[in-house]
Amino acid sequence: MKNPKIIIAIDGYSSTGKSTFAKLIAKELGYVHLDSGALYRAITLHALRAGMIDDSNRIDEDALLDSLSGLKISLRPEVYLGEENVESQIRQMDVSNSVSPVSAIPFVRSFVDDILRECGKEGGIVMDGRDIGTNVFPNAQLKIFMTATADERASRRYKEMIASGKQVTFEEVLKNLSERDYIDSHRSVSPLRQAEDAIVLDNTTMTMEDQMVWLKEILKDKFGMEF
Ligand code: DC
Repeated sequence: MKNPKIIIAIDGYSSTGKSTFAKLIAKELGYVHLDSGALYRAITLHALRAGMIDDSNRIDEDALLDSLSGLKISLRPEVYLGEENVESQIRQMDVSNSVSPVSAIPFVRSFVDDILRECGKEGGIVMDGRDIGTNVFPNAQLKIFMTATADERASRRYKEMIASGKQVTFEEVLKNLSERDYIDSHRSVSPLRQAEDAIVLDNTTMTMEDQMVWLKEILKDKFGMEF
């Protein structure tokens, strides 16, 4: 039997492993993985390069709004600015430090929402972010809300950054993460929150393998999928 092509929305806090989990699910099901945060990061990279964000993270919103109409940004499924693949640049600390205020701007959110809805309209996708189940695809057939303790999330992120040669301290990573959690869940437009019909996955003590086992049970029970 062929498995149905549903929309799986994965939301949750930073560094809960949403993208890694979403990628694995997509591979297992033959779906496309779309990382919505990558679009917010690419817009932030564009704004930083164009000098639209100052050292205190103040954003020149008029200039940013003007520039968006000419900005060619796409998920293929890696993120591109024009013809430039910016997947690696968008993970740098300067982008991480400015992305939350950029993603809190209403016109940025509607610009990103349009791209995401277009990419996902055929189904057969796993999209991860903060507001996928609540705002981008409120009718997604499966919504997962991922969480883990702040210490555990910061420790995972710290290890990743050290492994990729970045010079950071655990305290810096924890501070960046806590600030992002705060801004993401307190902004006025589409704040991070659990959709009423989302299933919570607290993975503080779970491996990726445990999480796949957990998910496959749900896919079998709810959608009759076979593996
Ligand atoms: O998942 P991430 O850390 O790459 O996301 C980067 C930022 O983008 C994060 O601070 C929150 C924001 N974001 C958002 O507001 N809505 C989404 N759907 C995805 C990300």
